[in-house]
Amino acid sequence: MITYLVTGAAGFIGSNFVKYITSKYGNDIKVIVLDALTYAGNINSIKEELELPNVSFVKGDIKDYCVVKEIFDDNDIDFVVNFAAESHVDRSIENPKLFLETNILGTQNLLNCAREAWADGKDDTGKPAYKKGKKYLQISTDEVYGSLEKDFDEAQPLHVDDELKQVIEGRHNLTTFGKKFFTEETPLSPRSPYSASKTSADMIAMAYHHTYNFPVNITRCSNNYGPYHFPEKLIPLVIHNILNGKKLPVYGKGLNVRDWLYVEDHCKAIDLVLRKGKIGEVYNIGGFNEESNINIVKLIIDTIARIMREEPKYQSLLNCNLEDINYDLITYVTDRPGHDMRYAIDPTKIATQLGWYPETPFTVGIEKTIRWNLDNQQWIDDVTSGDYQKYYEQMYGNR
Ligand SMILES: NC(=O)c1ccc[n+]([C@@H]2O[C@H](COP(=O)([O-])OP(=O)(O)OC[C@H]3O[C@@H](n4cnc5c(N)ncnc54)[C@H](O)[C@@H]3O)[C@@H](O)[C@H]2O)c1
Repeated sequence: MITYLVTGAAGFIGSNFVKYITSKYGNDIKVIVLDALTYAGNINSIKEELELPNVSFVKGDIKDYCVVKEIFDDNDIDFVVNFAAESHVDRSIENPKLFLETNILGTQNLLNCAREAWADGKDDTGKPAYKKGKKYLQISTDEVYGSLEKDFDEAQPLHVDDELKQVIEGRHNLTTFGKKFFTEETPLSPRSPYSASKTSADMIAMAYHHTYNFPVNITRCSNNYGPYHFPEKLIPLVIHNILNGKKLPVYGKGLNVRDWLYVEDHCKAIDLVLRKGKIGEVYNIGGFNEESNINIVKLIIDTIARIMREEPKYQSLLNCNLEDINYDLITYVTDRPGHDMRYAIDPTKIATQLGWYPETPFTVGIEKTIRWNLDNQQWIDDVTSGDYQKYYEQMYGNR
């Protein structure tokens, strides 16, 4: 039996991860979720999992020593997976301090409590030793590497070497907007308060590994998309606005490029790194899906319009006319200060060493995401109306 402490699992990626591991491992695992339920945390996203006997929820802050220590005192935690963070770049520009507190001090508190709980004397070389099988995984971001040049205006074919080609045989016609990619060796060069706080968290996690011999992995992923994504981020926001006939705000000219990773592919990678990743290593996790923001918005418009025409039952969800779903909805807004031009991850290390690759091509993942949004309007309505914040009271208020 492996016991997980999953922080921030009422958020987007963490909730998908809890779904993934509970469905994959069933009763062979125990999961404790720790989440402060900030505006980004929606306990309803993991409602079904919380009904399982082997999944429990603690409302609390990762910065709170007493809360985290009590979890370690009461449970023999094997894996800590730290998703908890302030994660929205725009909000970090408005309020950097909160990001430094949660993302840096919260990470350090988790590392500290895990180190205390897992300490097990010294090894043969005199270094601190830890109980067997324990691991702390810090979920980080490609944004720690800074920004890459965009060398091409339109996507060009991406050529990968033969070793990588063998692993990713299910993916064809890969494209890129540039010649350079982030590898695990790329120097860290964060440019927003958000990415600076995530970089600091990575560095303190690695410092625990080097100083205390502490069992750490770091994963750095590109932009995730998929079910349970809070509609302040680009893809769910665009879907929501299209259904409601609202304008689609695009920063600058929409030419910034991101690499998009389907969230389930990400969860599979995290699972692999936890079980097979070499202690002390960083793994980059990318989607092989580079795309400019403007092309993404156009793809979503085209896909929703097509689904509505092919499956008229969904037209009842529209608060606009079907004919109005077109590129005229796009509106260009003043760019974000310091907006990074391009992120592109090279996932060769995790592919060749652990056998993982991002299985989901962007057109497939986007259609799945749109369909999830269409089929889960109640979740979206609750989030956009703020009602999701009542769920905790309903589920746990009287316990
Ligand atoms: N979403 C992406 O595309 C992406 C890309 C790269 C890296 N990441 C990283 O992945 C992780 C998860 O991202 P996400 O998009 O799911 O985030 P999210 O904003 O959807 O969820 C964050 C969760 O953390 C919780 N939380 C916030 N502060 C907390 C605190 N002090 N104590 C306990 N819980 C707290 C929130 O309530 C929420 O449930 C983050 O660390 C983020 O930096 C995300």
